[in-house]
Amino acid sequence: MKYSSIGSSGVRASRVALGVMRMDGATAPEAAKIVDTVVSRGVNYFDTADVYANGKSSAVLGQALKDAHIDRGAILLQTKFGIYRAPHSDTNIRYDFSQAHLLSALDGELRNLQTDYVDFILLHRPDTLVDLDELADTFNKLQNSGKVRHFGVSNVNPMQVELLQGAVSQKLEVNQLQFGLGHTQMIEQEFHVNMGDASSVDHDGGLIAYSRLKGMTIQAWSPFQYGFFEGVYIDSPKFPKLNDLLATLAGKYGTSKNAIAVAWILRHPANIQVILGSMTPSRLEEMTDGADIWLEPQEWYDLYFAAGNDLP
Ligand SMILES: NC(=O)c1ccc[n+]([C@@H]2O[C@H](COP(=O)([O-])OP(=O)(O)OC[C@H]3O[C@@H](n4cnc5c(N)ncnc54)[C@H](OP(=O)(O)O)[C@@H]3O)[C@@H](O)[C@H]2O)c1
Repeated sequence: MKYSSIGSSGVRASRVALGVMRMDGATAPEAAKIVDTVVSRGVNYFDTADVYANGKSSAVLGQALKDAHIDRGAILLQTKFGIYRAPHSDTNIRYDFSQAHLLSALDGELRNLQTDYVDFILLHRPDTLVDLDELADTFNKLQNSGKVRHFGVSNVNPMQVELLQGAVSQKLEVNQLQFGLGHTQMIEQEFHVNMGDASSVDHDGGLIAYSRLKGMTIQAWSPFQYGFFEGVYIDSPKFPKLNDLLATLAGKYGTSKNAIAVAWILRHPANIQVILGSMTPSRLEEMTDGADIWLEPQEWYDLYFAAGNDLP
């Protein structure tokens, strides 16, 4: 496993993290095994959110960390808040950065996770009705109470980061965004500058260059999905070229296709952290191996092409 600082926080985090959005279906022994598997491979970073299965994913993780006898001080816990759902519903009703909602959501997560602080908290999706002064006060309260150590955002563009960062005193260290071989838009934005083709349409405002300039860690969510939860590209008949090349490179490096897909993300100099979502220990072992593979530049570009992309 390799490690690097999250943003400019100096906090030493594994380049590969475990996300637990799908952990609500695991039994306690299964969840403890998942946690034990990734920790034994060097993972020290866990990502969840209050809305994942209405808090159940966080609760299963909290119990799993206890059952696997993981020392709280040896790991980093991150959760996300700012989405309001009606009780017991899976439908987003609104994004909600009000103080009352955020404070109570964080307290719920601390109970679920069986801890008295989180290392990082992210605003999950942008609330266009945000009251910036109120948000600044909320962040101060969260920091001063000792319940939150570091802050970040998710699914926001550079101008939205500027707006939020201009209001709050705490450095925004993270932007969590969908990224992987099945979702490469952030890379297209780097290449198709000033072109007239579809890939040149600006969807993100230069997220990769902006995040690097500002010292923010991009966290890649759903690294194995294509589209918006349409499926997994590994072994999918929709991605024959990509799977062929992943298999060839897996042979060259003596590893798996899963590892090469992770290595592709980690090879980018933006220092992107991968948030794995698999709940299968054998797959997680293969995926974490990707942290120790360093692809050649042409291999990286060839995977980008095999995923269905081109260069101007
Ligand atoms: N900020 C946001 O808005 C946002 C949104 C979504 C997710 N996230 C975060 O990102 C994390 C990861 O998201 P994700 O779960 O969508 O990630 P993912 O790793 O892309 O997908 C995991 C799912 O794909 C399956 N899968 C993965 N690799 C596979 C393979 N090689 N072959 C077959 N099936 C495979 C897994 O099945 P098995 O479990 O059977 O292996 C699991 O159902 C979440 O847990 C959450 O923490 C954040």
